[in-house]
Amino acid sequence: MAVIRVRNTGQEISGEQDVRSFLTKNEVYYDHWDVNQLPSHLREKFNLSDEEKDQILKAFEKDIQDLSAKRGYVKWDVISLSDSTPNLEELLKKFEQVHTHTEDEVRVIAAGSGIFVIKGEEGYFDVVLSPGDVISVPEGNPHFFTLTDERKVVAIRLFIDPAGWVAHPYADPSFQQA
Ligand SMILES: [Fe+2]
Repeated sequence: MAVIRVRNTGQEISGEQDVRSFLTKNEVYYDHWDVNQLPSHLREKFNLSDEEKDQILKAFEKDIQDLSAKRGYVKWDVISLSDSTPNLEELLKKFEQVHTHTEDEVRVIAAGSGIFVIKGEEGYFDVVLSPGDVISVPEGNPHFFTLTDERKVVAIRLFIDPAGWVAHPYADPSFQQA
């Protein structure tokens, strides 16, 4: 279950109801899928073959179809990051820059963990995500994604238009470093 840290106050929000209500107030879509649908050998595996990525999509197929029908996604894939990813440090430096997209950015955490840093109504907040968490940053909303200290994640990405999914840098003097 996701945990929220508000950067300018240090406030920490946990518990499903409080997390949902904070994210709803900030127009961030949030849900939680049953991660037990994932075969156990894929719950702690971060170096994935194409076949294993397909198994992950298959395991969550019903949830993916339901979410896509509701929100208009037409394509999905699986990404993984860990210390075995070539150039992980460089990738993270590139990721950790506030940006926007012309469509929403949705992620489902299948294994490991990750953090979305999002600009909200009252400044930036971190959403720390664990397996089963589903989040969507609204179109045009400044944000970035990074890893937690465990430095490993497997996530499903869903797209409305994969061709249009480009990061536009967002220079923000009010950005609060953690
Ligand atoms: Fe993004």
